[in-house]
Amino acid sequence: MAFVRACALSELEEDTPKRVELDGTPVSVVRTEGEVFAINDICSHANVSLSEGEVEGCSIECWLHGSSFDLRTGKPSGLPATRPVPVYPVKIEGDDVLVSVTQES
Ligand code: FES
Repeated sequence: MAFVRACALSELEEDTPKRVELDGTPVSVVRTEGEVFAINDICSHANVSLSEGEVEGCSIECWLHGSSFDLRTGKPSGLPATRPVPVYPVKIEGDDVLVSVTQES
């Protein structure tokens, strides 16, 4: 699985998602609860950027209709979204946040 650099760890603010594009895939990188997560940036309910939503614990809330997605699994915790959003493996190397978008975890 190919990891590519998404951003610097030091530029990630706690609970503030950062949108990046990796190999043409929009990804929201989130630092929260002492970990870094990578989730596809598009809500599974409609074409809305999840990185514009709120992070709470290990979930990110879609700002449009309020479904929350678990950053570890991508699963929605409630309607209107019913389908999960892809999540991706993350590796930290020094100050580099590396994400593999070629394999969903
Ligand atoms: S667009 Fe995200 S919950 Fe509707």
